[in-house]
Amino acid sequence: MTDLAEYIDARIDRFHEELNELLSIPSISTDAEHAEDVRRCADWVGEHLRAAGIDEVEVVDTDGHPIVVGERIADPEAPTLLIYGHYDVQPSEPDELWTSPPFEPTVRDGRLYARGSVDDKGQVHMHVKAVETRLESGAGLPANLKFVIEGEEEVGSAHLGAFLREQADRLSCDAVVISDTTMFSPELPCITTGLRGIVYTQIDVYGPQTDLHSGSYGGAVVNPANALATILAGLRDERGRATLPGFYEPVREITDREKSDLARLPLDEEGLRADIGAPELGGEEGFSTLERLWYRPTLDVNGLLSGFTGQGSKTVLPSKAMAKVSMRLVPDQDPAEVSDALETRVRELAPSGVRVEIQRFHDGSPWVANPEHPIFEAAARALEAGFGTPPAMIREGGSIPIVPLFERMFEAPVLLIGFALPGCNAHAPDEWIDLGVYRKGIEALANLHDEVAAAL
Ligand code: BES
Ligand code: MN
Ligand code: MN
Repeated sequence: MTDLAEYIDARIDRFHEELNELLSIPSISTDAEHAEDVRRCADWVGEHLRAAGIDEVEVVDTDGHPIVVGERIADPEAPTLLIYGHYDVQPSEPDELWTSPPFEPTVRDGRLYARGSVDDKGQVHMHVKAVETRLESGAGLPANLKFVIEGEEEVGSAHLGAFLREQADRLSCDAVVISDTTMFSPELPCITTGLRGIVYTQIDVYGPQTDLHSGSYGGAVVNPANALATILAGLRDERGRATLPGFYEPVREITDREKSDLARLPLDEEGLRADIGAPELGGEEGFSTLERLWYRPTLDVNGLLSGFTGQGSKTVLPSKAMAKVSMRLVPDQDPAEVSDALETRVRELAPSGVRVEIQRFHDGSPWVANPEHPIFEAAARALEAGFGTPPAMIREGGSIPIVPLFERMFEAPVLLIGFALPGCNAHAPDEWIDLGVYRKGIEALANLHDEVAAAL
């Protein structure tokens, strides 16, 4: 066994206790009532970075939630890695669907259940413990390290871009490493080479100024709920494609090479279906499941609200209706153009007799890596050392909006090595992290420093 592995195994109980502490803080970024908890969580992360041996740690205020930064310069001549992650989490509701409370971390069957366990506090903690492990076991650091751990990833990273630009010199680096993605199975680590982008909107449809008796008025006024249904139905066609003008024009064709790479991945479609408990999988006509998830854009309703939704019946015409609609984007779609196209299409579809408002929340660009960079081979060696299997190269359907900016600003490759397993319930009740993967991942990340430093 290596010194690193020995160090980790001897202290794994303490690592778990610390992680439990971190997961007990409800750092829900979207909810103003939790702003103090978010701040407390930032402080916790700062303290633990310091304790792991990172110098000059600072919890920086923004107009939103704080950003935790720190660095340790081992040797000004050595390459520099910037490790990015997020300490904020999605809301835990509906809380009644959790087996144990979302902010009371609980172990069952080798899994640690809590909101943020895998997205992304657990994975951030793995990096912190990898640093501690190297320094305390005497392995030292072969690369300079910089940390940027933010508190607004789950709400679109609104203040991170400006911060990075302001601090561009202080944060300059040769590579960015992020653990906020998934692996195929506990035995198959993964490097993610593509992310989808996102555009998130809300459509409000307004009709009469109050709800109305559906007998006295029904048939003679335009019902906003019906109007919204018409709009939403018109946004997609029967082949499962979005009907926005120009939406597919910039979308890259899937190459034969990409198709054969996809075919070699051990995707268990029936297992996936059973895991999520859906009657069947479905999507855009003419594409496989992985193509639909990684290479094709989507348009989805994320939420719907209108009229009477209580028990039993109430004969009423609603005065308004609302839908949250988001699109996942792929190269080379542009979020601003897609937002405009949505607006155009919604206006086209809206029947007269209602007023329609469209709000844009956050957006993010799609991203693909240049997998020829030597950092990918180096990372593959580190993952193989930790997991005993060379990693698969995958893409993700999800989004990490800041990734393209990192790449552009620092002219540095972005390495996505994530440890979430299929079915981990990120953003859902009963989110979990596999504690075996957590342990192996710390070792792999500690090894990564050597491999990556040598490749840069
Ligand atoms: N860790 C996820 C990104 C992700 C999702 C990676 C699925 C791999 C698979 C991240 O925390 C996230 O949830 N991002 C949001 C971004 C949005 C709020 C701007 C997302 O994808 O919905
Ligand atoms: Mn995340
Ligand atoms: Mn997330």
